[in-house]
Amino acid sequence: MSNNDVSIKNHLKPYYEGMKRNHLGPLWYDLGHMVTNEPVTDVQPYLWKWKMIREYVLKAGELLKPGKDAERRVVYLQNPSLLKHGLVGYGTHTLYAGIQLLLPGECAPSHHHSQSAIRFIIEGSGAYTAVNGEKTYMERGDMVLTPAWTWHEHKHEGTEPVFWLDGLDVGLVRTLAASFFEPYEEESYPMEAPENYSTKQFSMGAFKKLNERKNPGYPSPIYGYKFDRVKYLLDEMKKEDQDPFDGYAIEYINPLTGGSADSRIGTMMQRLEPGMQTKAHRHVHSAIYHVLEGEGYTIIDGQKFEWEKGDFFILPPWSCHEHVNTGSSDVYLFSFNDKPVMEKLELEFSEPYGENDGHQIIEKVFDPDHEQVDTI
Ligand SMILES: [Fe+2]
Ligand SMILES: [Fe+2]
Repeated sequence: MSNNDVSIKNHLKPYYEGMKRNHLGPLWYDLGHMVTNEPVTDVQPYLWKWKMIREYVLKAGELLKPGKDAERRVVYLQNPSLLKHGLVGYGTHTLYAGIQLLLPGECAPSHHHSQSAIRFIIEGSGAYTAVNGEKTYMERGDMVLTPAWTWHEHKHEGTEPVFWLDGLDVGLVRTLAASFFEPYEEESYPMEAPENYSTKQFSMGAFKKLNERKNPGYPSPIYGYKFDRVKYLLDEMKKEDQDPFDGYAIEYINPLTGGSADSRIGTMMQRLEPGMQTKAHRHVHSAIYHVLEGEGYTIIDGQKFEWEKGDFFILPPWSCHEHVNTGSSDVYLFSFNDKPVMEKLELEFSEPYGENDGHQIIEKVFDPDHEQVDTI
């Protein structure tokens, strides 16, 4: 810096300090922080082992009752990189993941809210989610929608504990200052439709009751998406149906629009054959993954995240990732994401990893035992 530059800087010092005191700022200094060349995020990848989560969730079963001590009995996944910024209950900047437990005979009462929610059943059967008065029974691997503003409750008529994933767009709705919540005046919303009606209506063909009107927009006319149908589709796919970045993959849709099943939360299932390694890419949307079946690893920005059945991991926005199946049987990965929102806002963009034949070099390995020391 020349003497001249220093004297200009000193000369302007009172000007910048005055601006700061009056809550103003010079764009010519800060533009690069505000309008970045590519996405910048505080979201870091993370992985939770199912064994550890399950232990804490089961303990909650001893500690409290849903509908009495708590609205819902849920243990949520807290991304440590976001807790540093005071973002409680955040998996990514837009998405939340919690694990809900219902024991036989229990009921989580009816309520509705402006957040969209998806459920993915991890363990157990005999419980249902009722959406706007329609019971949808839940089995392992099923995905159930409770779109924004729909009345929903959960009840368990079976004999074993039922665990499922709740996926909500908590961060998105919070950022947009649009959160509303209201309990229903009674424990249950009136049951108005036959059990599993919308699921059967579409998965066994495409029919409607005489004179029944179907809304061509949102929410989806289907609430329950059965795993046996998803598996059938994925298992039937041929080599030429393979996606280079996701293997054999399907997205859950709203059959009346052809768009995402939930209008704001995208949902996807992918199958990786033994030995399969996808190519790396990155995209603006973020995702939370759950391993339904199998074992393997995902490389995220050069870090290896090893997973097995039941585990969860975070995929931050704009992070390079590729998946590998290291086991001897097929891997089924369920994930939910904020892609529908990014697409609606015309912000979605993706690109393949261009180096090393599309594969990243592993620079470090995530160690869940080191990260998660304080088990019960
Ligand atoms: Fe809810
Ligand atoms: Fe991806």
